[in-house]
Amino acid sequence: MRGVNPGRGRWVIISCALSAGLLAAASPAAAAAPRYTPGAPGAGDPYFPDMGNGGYDVSHYDIRLAFHPETKAIDATTTILATATQDLSRFDLDFQGPLTISRLSVNGRNAGFTRSGAQELVITPPHGLRQGSTFVVSVSYSGVPQQIDDPALGVSGWVATKDGAVALNQPIGAATYYPVNDTTNDKATYTQTITVPAGLTVLANGEPGPRTTHDHQTTFRWTMNRPMASELSMLAIGGYDVTRGVTAGGLPNITAIGKSIDTEPGQGRVFNETTAQVVQWESSLYGPYPFDSTGGILADVGVGYALETQSRPVYDQSTSEVDGDLLAHELGHQWFGDSLTPVHWSDIWLNEGFATYSEWLYQEKFANVPVQQTFAKAYADEKDWSGAVADPGRDRIFDDLVYNRGAMALQALRVEIGDRAFFRVLTQWPTAHRYGTVSTRQFIEFVERLTGRDLGSFFRTWLYQPGKPALR
Ligand code: TRP
Ligand code: ZN
Repeated sequence: MRGVNPGRGRWVIISCALSAGLLAAASPAAAAAPRYTPGAPGAGDPYFPDMGNGGYDVSHYDIRLAFHPETKAIDATTTILATATQDLSRFDLDFQGPLTISRLSVNGRNAGFTRSGAQELVITPPHGLRQGSTFVVSVSYSGVPQQIDDPALGVSGWVATKDGAVALNQPIGAATYYPVNDTTNDKATYTQTITVPAGLTVLANGEPGPRTTHDHQTTFRWTMNRPMASELSMLAIGGYDVTRGVTAGGLPNITAIGKSIDTEPGQGRVFNETTAQVVQWESSLYGPYPFDSTGGILADVGVGYALETQSRPVYDQSTSEVDGDLLAHELGHQWFGDSLTPVHWSDIWLNEGFATYSEWLYQEKFANVPVQQTFAKAYADEKDWSGAVADPGRDRIFDDLVYNRGAMALQALRVEIGDRAFFRVLTQWPTAHRYGTVSTRQFIEFVERLTGRDLGSFFRTWLYQPGKPALR
């Protein structure tokens, strides 16, 4: 699913091979016979050249997965609905680690496949796929998924925990437990149907469906009906205390705290209510909340960071403090980072700059610390002005360079264009690009159009050039 899609995702299985064949037969005047060629093995991100693939566009993932805590193994079938964007002879999915594939079909017929390099699953369907045709890929697999441990980017993917597992997939990681077009440029809707031993709980993105128990196994279903980038997909399996509520705006709000986490009585309620308040307040600044439910998961996962997983962030209990600031950051990402995803990872300041700015606004609103004062302290304390905010390099995408200097650039912009225009940007930018992918270039053009000003030299100084910008 590429670009802006304001509608609800839905999928209808069409017998595409058949209908494509009939269409071709019925139009003898059609152009020359198709030349089927392989889809690209990467989506073209300069920092992560192998991530994602070319030649098709996914609209839905249906992940059915059973987890076996005694062995930490999974067995799963992931079914993907996609549309060919070229005449395809073969195509890749991203899939990595030691999982073994037992069956792979395209449009219901067994298809040939090989695994190449660290993360390419190369699939050759029995017949070429015509550009514009939809097709269904179904992959069955099993094994013990392995987390990714990147020296610069930390732990991600499927992470085993004491009583289950948590999957956190930014920027790489989704491919550790499902075959995927792992790029922010191909968003899709998701259904995750997860079976675990009775007594364990499963949480994921979006809305819960019916839950059934047979033979001491409970199956949970979660659905994300809005376009979601794979890096924002999430699963949490384990013992959790779940709290359900609604925000003042009527949005379902599901929060959960890992049972092994030492909390004071009433913490579940506080976590749920603070989440609701932050979402309500941010909606007043950034426009309507983009998803159909909200919430959060406090988990003992040990990765040392919180993550803005779509509709329901995950907070690792090892992060220093799960407080209102952190909630404002991760929930702010629902507009900046989730509904709007960066076209390239170099643009990640469009996520982290705004999420950090959300913390600054939160402190102004709820702790009486003016944003300008936070800015002044950050500006005075910052020691490292090397690198470019809007092109930090692969190993620095989670660096202060992106977070603090990104938020500083926004406060400098506020001073430059004035409060009125700035707060219009905060609402109109996420509204105009709802569910889309965005670049820094588009942001600059958006602000220039809104203000009617040439801000080229301003943005060069704050986003592209190393060095401490002078204040005006
Ligand atoms: N993007 C996350 C956030 O800002 C943080 C994060 C994800 C992170 N992966 C990381 C931070 C790896 C450090 C290292 O909410
Ligand atoms: Zn963030």
